Amino acid sequence: MITLGIDTTADDTCAAIVGNGKHVLSNIIFSQSSLHGKFGGIVPQIASYEHLHNVIPCVDAALRESGIDISNIDLFSVGLSPDPALSYYFISLSVAKVFSLVYKKPLVGIDHMEGHIMANFAENLDIKFPFVALTVAGGHTLLSYVSGLGEYQILGHSRDDAAGEAFDKVARLLKLGYPGGPVIDKAADKGNDESYDFPSPMIFDSSFDFSYSGLKTSVVRKVRELENNYPNGLPEDIVNNLAASFRKAAIRVLVEKLFRAVKYKNCNSVVLGGGVAANKLLRELVVDRGKEESTATYFPTVKLCTDNAVGTAIAGYYKFLKCGGDDPLTLKHYREKPLTNWFTSA
Ligand code: KG4
Ligand code: ZN
Repeated sequence: MITLGIDTTADDTCAAIVGNGKHVLSNIIFSQSSLHGKFGGIVPQIASYEHLHNVIPCVDAALRESGIDISNIDLFSVGLSPDPALSYYFISLSVAKVFSLVYKKPLVGIDHMEGHIMANFAENLDIKFPFVALTVAGGHTLLSYVSGLGEYQILGHSRDDAAGEAFDKVARLLKLGYPGGPVIDKAADKGNDESYDFPSPMIFDSSFDFSYSGLKTSVVRKVRELENNYPNGLPEDIVNNLAASFRKAAIRVLVEKLFRAVKYKNCNSVVLGGGVAANKLLRELVVDRGKEESTATYFPTVKLCTDNAVGTAIAGYYKFLKCGGDDPLTLKHYREKPLTNWFTSA
């Protein structure tokens, strides 16, 4: 079964073609980072215009790269957003509905966060349920227990800024560029992470929730204080030290709660997804901790951590096999909460 996945629920226009839920035949991403960069985050009006402009060329590129004609697509899978609706979310949804109706093939809607989890299955066919999933992106930080395909129990989420958003805001403050994660990673590798003692908020809290606004505020305060001594801009070594100390504080709490959740659910594997899962320190610490605690650890390669429609297509394939298609005339964005169980999502 050949699935075409399409997603416009964040700032990349994504289309991918996947055979039988595992063979990636194409993975096309039209990035908008350079356009949103100067604003330090996604600007909805720009995202809408760019997605509208790019969605058909992106699908066309995915078809060309795979060598598949659209009439041979068996299933259309579209990314849905768990957030209150923004106009650009509807671009892939509308396009996928039209394809489904015109080519008379089924359509399935897949939560964007679910796509991030399922992208792992493109590269790791040996992942076994149950597992604890940490989905860390620009808009969401979610810890969940996944007992089977489409069976989610949310354990915790960010009460304020998402982890990726904190990376983006700190990178902007340090004038490092956008998106924040990769540039902070690069600067942090050259810095000393013990230079500044930033808090890892809620690390000792018994819940599985996260909070990033306090950490961000501490970094802002420290930067303002240092700027008094360096009116012409912070020297590179200080920026690197700030980036390293921030990265350590931000990542430490993710690793701590992830492995606490593993113990709580008495399970032995973890799956990471979303842009922040590309973080070098997070990957190192999770692998080390997994070895110490005999827990299998799975991450997508960096290209499949950040936005892509490969995970959308894989999840769509399994959802269709398990639950059948959604109605192309009525399929909507969930708008309530992320990672809705497949059998209760109607
Ligand atoms: O999943 P994603 O591409 O889009 C959303 O669903 O939001 O995640 C984007 C986020 C951005 O905030 C970006 O700064 C962050 O992922 N990110 C990283 C890294 N690469 C991307 N965060 C930390 N370290 C990275 N290496
Ligand atoms: Zn994403």
